[in-house]
Amino acid sequence: MTDLALPIGLIAGALSKSGRIILAACILTGLTGGRTLADGMEQWLPSQPLVEGQRTFQDKFCSTCHGLPGDANAARVAPDLGQVRSWRDTMQLTSSLWNHTPKMIEKMRERGIARPVLSPDEMGKLVAYLFYLNFSEETGDPARGHDIFEQRTCARCHQLAGRGGTVGPRLDELNEAITSSFLAQALWNHGPEMAAKMKDLGIERPHFEANDVADIVALIRGGATPLAPLVRASAAIGSPRAGRAVFNRKGCVRCHAVAGVGGTTGPDLSKVAPARNISEMAGEFWNHGPMMWDAMRTTGVAFSKLSDRDMADLIAYLYFVRYTGRAGDAAKGAAIFKDKGCARCHADGGQENKPAPNLVMSKALETALHWSAAMWNHAATIDNAVRESHATWPTFEDDEMSDLVAYLQSRRGSK
Ligand code: HEC
Ligand code: HEC
Ligand code: HEC
Ligand code: HEC
Repeated sequence: MTDLALPIGLIAGALSKSGRIILAACILTGLTGGRTLADGMEQWLPSQPLVEGQRTFQDKFCSTCHGLPGDANAARVAPDLGQVRSWRDTMQLTSSLWNHTPKMIEKMRERGIARPVLSPDEMGKLVAYLFYLNFSEETGDPARGHDIFEQRTCARCHQLAGRGGTVGPRLDELNEAITSSFLAQALWNHGPEMAAKMKDLGIERPHFEANDVADIVALIRGGATPLAPLVRASAAIGSPRAGRAVFNRKGCVRCHAVAGVGGTTGPDLSKVAPARNISEMAGEFWNHGPMMWDAMRTTGVAFSKLSDRDMADLIAYLYFVRYTGRAGDAAKGAAIFKDKGCARCHADGGQENKPAPNLVMSKALETALHWSAAMWNHAATIDNAVRESHATWPTFEDDEMSDLVAYLQSRRGSK
């Protein structure tokens, strides 16, 4: 599939009634300058984030200090990045890279490693790699899974290890190697049927949170030995790029926009809060099922079944658009621009006589990854300036980086 497929798909969709609204929405966002860092991100959609990213992680010497993530035998002088869970979106990861820069530069000097320069493309691969390591975490707790299975009604209709109801199929016949995305697919495909049976029997529909689906998966697996971590991860996660095609083909795009492009019946899926892992996304599909089926009935979109692969790819895609898509708060960003000392060197509009580029005009504002790469590359300049002036290194917490970028973007057009 080429990058042209999406626009062409949408133009074809414009012949349908919801499509016309889509085009109008694109034109409107274009005119009002409502561009966010999520726009343009689709060009970075990876196909195999773990495979592509690992290569870059090694080529750029990250593995020299950090070791390969999850490798228990690696000789490390820096944290195992497979264990770090301190970021929920690209800007938080960019902040983390930024905050740790002084120590990283020091270690690079010590070890005689030249600080690598990163292009937005390379940064994209690294960011995707670090995010998908995190995403694939599949260690459910079978004991918790057992409680959920009993308490959230599954046992009323399904048998597992010889116990439970017989309204639905026996779940111990499922493959021992099942994953959260497989379960998401099974729950999606059988969802309407299950909901009807629940209604007949007066059973309240259960709700899933965080790790619930992974816990049920661990229960169904029944202690089957999991594969080695990275092998398991590569197999379990889908292809974000293929997921975009599924999203269009299965009609999700008729109700959901991504970065402002698509239908408006459901939420823009790049703007909802990022998910932590596959289990959490699987739970969301289940939780929102009934409202989606209602919307399908009223808008005349047919319910589509999904294959296991389709679901894995879709979830991988939606995970990507959410960790790259979150927008910050421009009002807060105005203060951050000054508080972090950026205003000392940079203009944020038409000021003359500033020693550094006017950031409002910067190409760094193009996408989240342009910004992320620019900040990584820029860190060496700031490190020197900070050393010379004996100042303290300005750190970014929580969403401060997103807020700053949202502010700079909001200044575009105001010369
Ligand atoms: C010369 C050694 C070295 C190299 C090379 C290196 N790092 Fe680091 N990195 C460190 C050290 C040391 C820390 C911890 C710094 C601290 O505690 O402030 C760190 C911290 C980090 C963190 C923050 C982790 C956290 O706890 O949030 C990230 C992310 C990171 N590095 C990513 C990278 C990437 C990506 C590359 C390759 C482009 C890279 N590092 C290359 C030494 C290195
Ligand atoms: C009211 C009865 C009922 C409840 C409660 C129920 N299910 Fe089901 N389930 C069914 C029926 C009926 C089917 C088969 C539907 C079909 O043929 O489309 C099914 C199908 C499934 C399948 C697909 C099985 C396969 O072999 O492909 C899975 C997985 C599943 N359910 C899991 C669950 C889980 C997990 C829960 C608890 C959160 C649950 N179900 C609660 C009735 C129920
Ligand atoms: C007919 C319209 C329609 C179609 C088609 C549709 N959805 Fe939805 N979707 C909705 C609505 C409406 C909601 C909000 C439901 C709610 O709030 O419970 C929603 C919610 C969601 C959510 C939860 C978002 C959140 O707030 O966290 C996800 C994820 C989602 N849909 C994914 C999909 C995917 C993937 C497809 C294609 C397989 C799809 N939807 C197809 C209407 C639709
Ligand atoms: C000591 C002066 C100084 C400070 C303080 C400073 N910068 Fe810079 N900045 C520069 C210079 C000089 C450049 C030109 C490229 C380089 O040397 O990295 C630059 C370039 C950049 C770029 C790349 C712009 C482009 O179009 O390529 C970004 C993004 C950036 N700075 C962001 C920031 C942010 C955010 C802050 C506040 C945390 C900040 N800078 C603080 C001097 C500074």
